[in-house]
Amino acid sequence: MEKMKRMKGLRIALLAAAVMLAVELVSGNFVVEENSLAVMSPESLKGTYRSAIGNFGVPKYGGTLSGVVIYPTVNMKGCGKFPHDHFRSNSGERPKFALIDRGDCYFATKVWNAQQAGAAAVLVVDNRDEDLITMNSPEEDPVASKYLPNISIPSALIIKKFGDKLKTALSNKELVAIKLDWREAMPHPDERVEYEFWTNSNDECGPKCDDQVEFVRNFKGVAQILERGGYTQFTPHYITWFCPQAFIESKQCKAQCINNGRYCAPDPELDFTRGYDGKQVVTENLRQLCVFKVANESLPRQPWKWWDYVTDFQIRCRMKDNRYGPECAEEVMKSLSIDVDAVRKCIGDPNADADNEILKHQQDVQVGEGVRGDVTILPTLVINQRQYRGKLDKTAVLKAICAGYLETTDPPICLSDTIETNECADNNGGCWERGSITACKVDCRLRRLFWTYTVIYLSSRALS
Ligand SMILES: *[C@@H]1O[C@H](CO)[C@@H](O)[C@H](O)[C@H]1NC(C)=O
Ligand SMILES: *[C@@H]1O[C@H](CO)[C@@H](O)[C@H](O)[C@H]1NC(C)=O
Repeated sequence: MEKMKRMKGLRIALLAAAVMLAVELVSGNFVVEENSLAVMSPESLKGTYRSAIGNFGVPKYGGTLSGVVIYPTVNMKGCGKFPHDHFRSNSGERPKFALIDRGDCYFATKVWNAQQAGAAAVLVVDNRDEDLITMNSPEEDPVASKYLPNISIPSALIIKKFGDKLKTALSNKELVAIKLDWREAMPHPDERVEYEFWTNSNDECGPKCDDQVEFVRNFKGVAQILERGGYTQFTPHYITWFCPQAFIESKQCKAQCINNGRYCAPDPELDFTRGYDGKQVVTENLRQLCVFKVANESLPRQPWKWWDYVTDFQIRCRMKDNRYGPECAEEVMKSLSIDVDAVRKCIGDPNADADNEILKHQQDVQVGEGVRGDVTILPTLVINQRQYRGKLDKTAVLKAICAGYLETTDPPICLSDTIETNECADNNGGCWERGSITACKVDCRLRRLFWTYTVIYLSSRALS
């Protein structure tokens, strides 16, 4: 009883600390990725405006899209289905953009409803006066997870003031024509694209983990072609938290951390009494980083082997089959001719009360400098220092990478149209949002985890 009370007090203190830290982070480091929006008509509104790229669907990185804006007279929030072909343009007509109000349902639901009625893009008007926010995809919603992968149009959030002006023009029967422009949403300075994938080796966190597994499997071929051709420099990353000093001796930190609380990952089932512990996840994350390092430094360099290792590991060493761990990992390495001893040496001793150079670096770079911002959502792709927004799907991601080349230097794969579409899922949120967020916060007791959660919830919202 006494213990329960103490735990409760602790929880409250930790939550309060988390919120404070999060507020600090939000003001500085969560990046709302934007595309530009030009009003072509009416004359009175002509000009360029800002809009925030939705974190689902397919933003047209590197391109533009022009259309006329339609504001529905009923179902203005787009939470219900629209009449068949309500936003579809006849041949010869300009595409139609649905203007939809924020509120009452997921952002993704609005966009899906508009897409089904033929909209070419969706502009969501904020319902309060504030700066741009990122429209996130719903977490763990069984209905939404069915249609999320099928959202194939771009969406953008605009501020209320601007939305109101568009509505006024429309109510005066003026034609509102707009050009959405993603050409500058991705920097394209030279003939090589640098990109990072922030992921996790945990394969038991529900749809979030399944999506990452699926993306890696689908993207592997493209990634390897790009890397072998010297068109990209890819770096894998793993989010790593640390245990606050006061909790190093706690059961939670002992189960979830290595190197005496320095590097932690949440328990896959959020249950310390069964299954795998966070400690095993962070160790496998480290192993995957070491596989990359060893392959990247071998002679000849073969950094693309990371994709082979990770996909094989995902197939052969699943938690579900009770195979997740060093033994299976080393079998995979051997089958791929990766130097097992070099990887072991790189991992070092997880029980040592000492820094691990590789994981320390992960923690350092997680906090972004400049335009990139902090990496707070798992999985996250960072392309040319910008966080990618949109679904985690092979074609959509390739489009974004291709937009990162200086004009005329795109590799052939960017010009081919043989890439199949719609193979994979979306859902860009973190694995860590499993269950209720409170439960997770309390279970994990890791300061960084708190930040992450709170930041996600404060800065980007799925439910509008
Ligand atoms: C999404 O697309 C797939 C494949 O085209 C299709 O089988 C499925 O029914 C679609 N889902 C919804 C909710 O429309
Ligand atoms: C991989 O190798 C390249 C070329 O040697 C180097 O520039 C890069 O920093 C390496 N990446 C990592 C993560 O070690």
